[in-house]
Amino acid sequence: MREIARKLGVSTSTVSRAFSKPEMVRPELRERILRMARELDYKPNPIARAMVRGQSDLIGLVVPDITNPFFPAIVRGVEDEARKHGLNLIVCNSDGQVAKEKQYLHSLHDLTVAGVILASASRRDAYVAELATGIPVVVMDRRLVGSLVSQVNADNYGGSKAVVDHLAGLGHRKLLYLSGPPMISTTEDRLRGFRDQCRLHGIDFYVVRAGFGIDDGYAAMEKASPMMDGTTGVVCANDLCAFGALARLAEVGILVPDQISVTGFDDIAFARILKPSLTTVRQPAYEMGRLAVTAILDMRHGRASRRPVVLPTELVIRDSTAVRNASAEPSSAGDR
Ligand code: RIB
Repeated sequence: MREIARKLGVSTSTVSRAFSKPEMVRPELRERILRMARELDYKPNPIARAMVRGQSDLIGLVVPDITNPFFPAIVRGVEDEARKHGLNLIVCNSDGQVAKEKQYLHSLHDLTVAGVILASASRRDAYVAELATGIPVVVMDRRLVGSLVSQVNADNYGGSKAVVDHLAGLGHRKLLYLSGPPMISTTEDRLRGFRDQCRLHGIDFYVVRAGFGIDDGYAAMEKASPMMDGTTGVVCANDLCAFGALARLAEVGILVPDQISVTGFDDIAFARILKPSLTTVRQPAYEMGRLAVTAILDMRHGRASRRPVVLPTELVIRDSTAVRNASAEPSSAGDR
């Protein structure tokens, strides 16, 4: 840096500002400094720059399950928008564990990141709000109860209702719901939408606690077998859970959708190539990630918005749902 300053006859602090606070350096002078830096193959030290500015050019993203294809779609949206603004990305996987999530949030805070985007493993925001006093925090995908931080979510409640409307339109009168993991808002909002719409249509239903993984859906479907009499539809809290339920139904010889219709939620890429392709609810994962970065930039420039952003979801009808076939109803999923 000193060599650049000497050659251009400016101070080292002017050279430093050209990298860390470009808006404070005349465009013509900044261009000369950047050109000289390229000639001398000078690259500013990111840690030193973060210390000068009090925050780094990094955004921290914490997701609950990086192995679930839903979250990489979010990561891509965050990455593309962050790069547009000269920001890089650190992705952390909390495995849905609050303790691990807290550990990552503290580490990101210590790295003086420019902001944190969090798909939380819980509904409570006490520790998140505490973090938010220091750096911009956006909660995404899962809502936090009474949260003071900005939120970007999808309409889980409305998406779940659309699934029941679709099955009601096909004549289904008794449905099984395989729910997501407890204590997170996407599980609760989808279950609430399912229940409210079944009651509106006069559809009989029962709920089995499952989770968001393939094994969760398989185990819940296996457990539900004795209750299958008269059930003609299985509504699952997300696509991976639906994949597990489909595996169990295939194992016991129940035909989808001839005997049982099955639905998911997320619309991950495999949903459309499965046989039968999965009727599901498309979440705007990429857009959620992109808007979460925009919310952080707004907060960095004093344009904070506390009003939650709720993006629309979309029912995607494919081959795993069909008109209820009363004559082909299974006596029980476990009897074969
Ligand atoms: O598939 C994982 C689920 O967790 C998604 O439905 C997403 O909304 C998140 O809450």
